[in-house]
Amino acid sequence: MRERIALIGAGRVGSSLAGALHHAGLEVEFIVDRDAAAARAAAALCGAVPAVTLAALPEGGPALIFLTVPDDAIAAAAAELAAAAKAGPGTAVVHCSGSLPAAILAPLRPHTRRLASMHPLQSFAGRKQEWRRWRGIHIALEGEEETVVLLEEIARRLQSRPFRLTAGAKIDYHIACVLLSNCLVGLYDAADELLAGVELPAEEKRAMTEPLLRNTIANVIASGPGAALTGPVSRGDTGTITAHLRALAAERPGLLELYRTLSLRLVKLAEQEGRLTLLQSEQLRKLLNHPDE
Ligand SMILES: NC(=O)c1ccc[n+]([C@@H]2O[C@H](COP(=O)([O-])OP(=O)(O)OC[C@H]3O[C@@H](n4cnc5c(N)ncnc54)[C@H](OP(=O)(O)O)[C@@H]3O)[C@@H](O)[C@H]2O)c1
Repeated sequence: MRERIALIGAGRVGSSLAGALHHAGLEVEFIVDRDAAAARAAAALCGAVPAVTLAALPEGGPALIFLTVPDDAIAAAAAELAAAAKAGPGTAVVHCSGSLPAAILAPLRPHTRRLASMHPLQSFAGRKQEWRRWRGIHIALEGEEETVVLLEEIARRLQSRPFRLTAGAKIDYHIACVLLSNCLVGLYDAADELLAGVELPAEEKRAMTEPLLRNTIANVIASGPGAALTGPVSRGDTGTITAHLRALAAERPGLLELYRTLSLRLVKLAEQEGRLTLLQSEQLRKLLNHPDE
């Protein structure tokens, strides 16, 4: 495959994708970012030409452009590309949002019909060494058929696992990704706040929680959430939950709602698993829905 590839947006996904394409033997020719230093840093990962404006791109456009800008900037970037006439009939334009459909690229329709979305199911938190994180991951593809077929081939070159997703399924799919990744980080942060009374250095606290976190995730992946569920809700320990609710209401009211909402979800899960008696379920629901009574 010898596509001329350009990336617009030298952030986390842009930089890691540039590195991954390069290591897969694909040639990234241009990296555009309004921040010259970011464009240079990403270009250095793949031997591309860095640029701060679209003017660097060839007339009529390269064969493949990845728009790796934030979701809210994708429509404007597509309009900018259309206005600059940097995408022609042979140019495939692809964005990387998990929630937006390829149709968000509609401003480009007068120039090219080859529009698609490609969402890597991965969390890219850094910029430099992240190219390895494309290996073995699933990549959701959606959009114009010929472009999706091209992306399937590229995904396989990246040693990733492409799959197709309909535009209508993207929102729920992306909320799931956010719950599993970003909200997990939020939960970790809330737990960190609650661990303020444990007098250990920060690194040791992270090491202390690691087996719990890793084993829980391993159990969910091996057997599903029902079988992985442990803890006071699954045992119907209303006394413990009462104590938790009281402590949160008194000391950390900001975390009370989070605890109640998630615990109610766990009651439903424990019920489905046949782990609670009818009385235990009723007591837990009453407690969690009306913690003040
Ligand atoms: N990070 C992840 O884990 C992840 C995973 C899957 C999918 N995605 C998707 O990947 C896309 C990029 O996300 P990201 O996390 O890589 O974002 P990011 O780290 O914030 O990077 C976005 C980059 O685009 C630049 N930019 C913004 N508007 C631009 C424009 N009009 N022209 C040129 N460059 C522009 C930004 O520059 P400034 O810094 O100057 O604003 C920044 O360098 C999003 O669609 C996101 O949903 C992200």
